[in-house]
Amino acid sequence: MQSRLEISLCRWPRTVACVGALTLLLSAPFSLAQQQGGDDAGHQAFNNSCRTCHSVKDGDNRLGPNLHGIVGRKAGSLPDYNYSPSMKDAGFVWDQDKLSHFLAKPEEVVSGNKMQPYGGISKDEATRVIAYLQSAAQQR
Ligand code: HEC
Repeated sequence: MQSRLEISLCRWPRTVACVGALTLLLSAPFSLAQQQGGDDAGHQAFNNSCRTCHSVKDGDNRLGPNLHGIVGRKAGSLPDYNYSPSMKDAGFVWDQDKLSHFLAKPEEVVSGNKMQPYGGISKDEATRVIAYLQSAAQQR
């Protein structure tokens, strides 16, 4: 009789605890990746929309300038890349807002730039790409 009581009392809390632990296990790596900005979505978006022309490796210029540490870098400032005159003279530092706007509509931010052909991406997509660019800069 006593053991029966124990079983019926313990089954519930145990189930709840078990589901709780499982949820935690499943969500922890995901939120960690998001915090670091190194989530797959951002990397994927970069690969899809930028990698044809850009690398995140310092010194590795391709058709476009390398994007190593781009957040906080002055626009058009790499000495070994041949920018358009408008990018060279842009005269601002890339922050998240500038980048997000530029990635959606390059022409509105630096008119006469030569980042082409480039169709633009959504602000949401841009946010993910920027998070990836920031996390990539910290890794090197
Ligand atoms: C078709 C090739 C191409 C694609 C695709 C492309 N870019 Fe560019 N990007 C360029 C070129 C070329 C420049 C140099 C523009 C200039 O000098 O006017 C540039 C310049 C830039 C700059 C300014 C860099 C600096 O040093 O000031 C940033 C930031 C940038 N691109 C980010 C991106 C991101 C992020 C993506 C993807 C969402 C992307 N680009 C996709 C070719 C490309």
